[in-house]
Amino acid sequence: MIIYAAKDYEEVSKKAATVMGALIVSKPNAVLGLATGSTPVGMYRYLVEWCKNGDLDFSQISSVNLDEYRGLSGDNDQSYRYFMNTNLFDHVNIDKAKTNVPNGLAEDADQACAEYNAIIRSMGGVDMQLLGIGGNGHIGFNEPSDVFEKETHVVDLAESTIQANARFFESMDDVPKQAFTMGIKNIMEAKKILLVATGAAKADALYKALYGPITPQVPASILQLHSDVVVVADEEALSVIREKGLL
Ligand code: PGA
Repeated sequence: MIIYAAKDYEEVSKKAATVMGALIVSKPNAVLGLATGSTPVGMYRYLVEWCKNGDLDFSQISSVNLDEYRGLSGDNDQSYRYFMNTNLFDHVNIDKAKTNVPNGLAEDADQACAEYNAIIRSMGGVDMQLLGIGGNGHIGFNEPSDVFEKETHVVDLAESTIQANARFFESMDDVPKQAFTMGIKNIMEAKKILLVATGAAKADALYKALYGPITPQVPASILQLHSDVVVVADEEALSVIREKGLL
């Protein structure tokens, strides 16, 4: 595992974009596993800038996203498809037909999950999977649990997540209660993992993920078993690891 320590969010964004950009340069038809959330926004901004100035070419790139809210259409401004379009896809020369986000409106969830697994396989697997980490150690929507869920599945969102999301919707009824997410096996099958973390709220989870026991109660801890992980984190997110003298 490689850990890059960065001083702040901006430096994390630039370093993480450099790591993904290097893959795009060295493998122009790479399959990118992408993530949403506040952490990757700055990284996507750099990728857009470097594409606009001609340093990166997304024309042969394809992508597969970790997760999507169940019940939201891709036009909904809270959907992860919308997030990807507005933060990255609309601003680079990627072929949108080669970008994949679970279909939040799929009626038959089991079929939708099986199809998503098949899409990942048909692409030949993910070359680099980008991950954020939740304050509770989640990756994608794989929340702390008694078991590692293997492949794409539907999760019931935690009540705290539903409450936290409520501010983005007109009424409680509109807040998604479920999501589609890749499973831990899908994530672990990526050839390379790029984990980004910023802020003190992630410090404990990052310590447990990288140095604690491997347990589904801290889903990100499974990454200790992956042979090619790059972590880009700011000093706040690394603070517990530093306190323990591990870095
Ligand atoms: P964040 O989310 O980037 O918005 O902190 C990360 C995550 O929950 O995976």
